[in-house]
Amino acid sequence: MNGADAAAERVRNAPIGVFDSGIGGLSVLQALRAELPAERFVYLADTGHAPYGERGDAFVARRTHTLARYLVQQHGAKALVVACNTATAAAMDSLRQRYPLLPLVGVEPALKPAASATQSGRIAVMATRGTVSSARFGRLIAALPPQVRCRIQACDGLASAIEAQAACAPQDAAADAAKTLELCRRYVDTLGPWGNKAGETDTLVLGCTHYVFAQDALQQLLGPKVQILSTGEPVARQTRRLLANAGRLQSLPPSPSTQTFAF
Ligand code: DGL
Repeated sequence: MNGADAAAERVRNAPIGVFDSGIGGLSVLQALRAELPAERFVYLADTGHAPYGERGDAFVARRTHTLARYLVQQHGAKALVVACNTATAAAMDSLRQRYPLLPLVGVEPALKPAASATQSGRIAVMATRGTVSSARFGRLIAALPPQVRCRIQACDGLASAIEAQAACAPQDAAADAAKTLELCRRYVDTLGPWGNKAGETDTLVLGCTHYVFAQDALQQLLGPKVQILSTGEPVARQTRRLLANAGRLQSLPPSPSTQTFAF
């Protein structure tokens, strides 16, 4: 094998870097592992700097570049998945400028699929304040077909509550779960009425990767006639496509692994 071939093989066998402000991106990682079972992953949870959603664009963009640099320089990541809607909104464009040759995948609220899926013509999105106030989100809303009405809710505190619930000691579990449920109820009530009749909203988009961990609670509040959309699987498929196009899919016999770090 010549030097160029050996270098290409090293890249193919490098890990995929995945990150989020905390546990939310694990919902995306799960889909990535299902779609790409032979790959190695390095997952970063930036819990020391969470929540991103209420911190402002400049802060989130700085953290996003710090995490991307760490994954590329310390782990030789062959691709990056920004498993966070807020970070994607704040920093995807500048990341693409900084790493023009690296396969980069971001996460955005699934508004377009929701517009195709709705029967009642009414959809809603729950996301962080950072995401819903971003220019990127504004462009997604502007691209919706005119007959689709979309209600938008910035869900302050919800990602933090879900994070606390995941990290809590067993004796705090009930109180943390109650806090998550109370916030879900408050935001669902604000966005209603829900259902599949005229004037009701039949499709909810989870525009924050953390909220996937509250999906069961949300579904109970919304009832069975409302569908909930998230983005893990499409992101995993897009990651596979980009890796294949770049000739970077794993070429060794499968030895999947995931390393996880909290910052
Ligand atoms: N999980 C993140 C997202 O998808 C952000 C949560 C937060 O830190 O506010 O937007």
